[in-house]
Formats: sequence, structure tokens, C-alpha cells
Amino acid sequence: MLISNVVVAIAMEAEASPFVNHLNLQLDTSFFPSETPFRAFRGKHNNCNLTVITNGADTVYGTGVDNVGTVPAAVATFLALQKLKSDTDPADLLINAGTCGGFRRKGAAIGDVFLTTAVANHDRRIAIPGFTSYGIGKVESTSVERLASHLNAKLGICSTGNSLDFHELDSHHMLQNDASVKDMEAAAIAWASEVWSTPHFGVKVVTDIVDGDKPSHEEFLENLGKAAKSLQSTLPKVIDYVCDRKHDEL
Ligand code: ADE
Repeated sequence: MLISNVVVAIAMEAEASPFVNHLNLQLDTSFFPSETPFRAFRGKHNNCNLTVITNGADTVYGTGVDNVGTVPAAVATFLALQKLKSDTDPADLLINAGTCGGFRRKGAAIGDVFLTTAVANHDRRIAIPGFTSYGIGKVESTSVERLASHLNAKLGICSTGNSLDFHELDSHHMLQNDASVKDMEAAAIAWASEVWSTPHFGVKVVTDIVDGDKPSHEEFLENLGKAAKSLQSTLPKVIDYVCDRKHDEL
């Protein structure tokens, strides 16, 4: 089966808008339930139907900032895949695109593009038999080795947690997860994709070095604009590559 229906899940508006504008995708206000803050931008690119979903802005806590983290990411992905299936137009592939922190010890540098080989959680520690590996929640990504060579991108595991910074226990678990990069959504998006049996992988651009000497939030804000531009140039190449190909050709 050739890939022809792709969902791209992007948490933050600043990460998504250059790509959405570049491909001239249109806001579809009827895609998500009107009660939700989520946004869908849709259109055709070559032979592919594309749906870019973002998590929208917070209204629950009254902050108005983008809904980052695992809860909105899982719910938005779940609803998008459910909607496409009920429209008898199920997604062939889910791509999670966004920024990440990178580990220098795994060869990451600012601006690098990583494709995920697997995702796991580093902040779900449950010391009860059986629940430990549930908490870690490791999920393999669909294999994208040829795509990585095509893009000159790196491959690695993404470890997810709900904080931009990290403490010692997170650090220990990120090492245990063999993480090359760290984000706040990938494992949640992978979970929702698995529920709907949709192949998935992540495209992550490094904004900050986790094992470097600058605070993550300062480096993140410094490099967010650059990373959004890098996503804008990388994502169309990703879409061009995956569309009209078979999964086992990625
Ligand atoms: N997104 C960008 N940088 C990040 C970091 N250091 N941790 C989690 N998510 C990120």
C-alpha cells in the first residue's frame, strides 16, 4: 500500500506555522470538536492528503500559551486519527514534528535533525511489578533509515517527560532509555498512534543541549526561530519522500 494520507502532529504554533504557510494548508474548523483548543490545517501536496494538527492555546489555566506536554498531544492525536478513520479515510502515517533537547554525548548539536527509532518516558517511575515497563512505555518507531540518509539526518531514541528542565532521576532514566534527544510529547503521540494502529515516527530539531552548560529554557528561546526554519525546510522533503512510497521503503 502506498502512503497517501499523512498526519503531522506539531505541539507549538511557532513550530508549525512556517510549514503550514509554505504548503498553503488551510485551517479546517470542523475537524476537531468545537470544545477543544486543537487546530487542523489541511490540504493536498502532490498525491498526498496532509493534515497538520497543533495543540492550540491554553484556556483551562488562563495562560493563553501553547498547550505543550503529553496530555494535549495524546488527546489531539487520538481525536485526529479517530476522525480520519470515521471519515473512512484512515491515516497511513503519523509524523510527530517539533523541537527537542539533544545530548552531546550522543552526537547532538544545535540545529541537528533527528528521526526517532523509538520513544520512551523518563518521568513515569512506577516501582510496582509489571508497571515499571508500562511507565517507561517504550514504543518502536516505524523504520526510516533510508529517509534519514536522504535527509542527512541522525537517528536516535527520543525520551519524553513533562518538564523542559530535568533533575537527577530524569537524567538517570534518560540515560537508561539511551536517549539521543528529549522532548515533551513524542511518547504520548506514539501511544495514541499505536491505539489506532497507525505507523509513526518523529522528526525532531535540536534547540538546546541537555548535557551542555546553558539552562535549557534560555537556549531553547534563543534557537526556536532557527529550529522552526529548519523544520520548514526539512518537513517538505520528508513529505515528498514518504508520499507515494510503501512503508517498507522508508
Ligand atoms: N523541546 C526543546 N528543547 C527541549 C528540552 N530540553 N526538553 C524538552 N522539550 C524540549
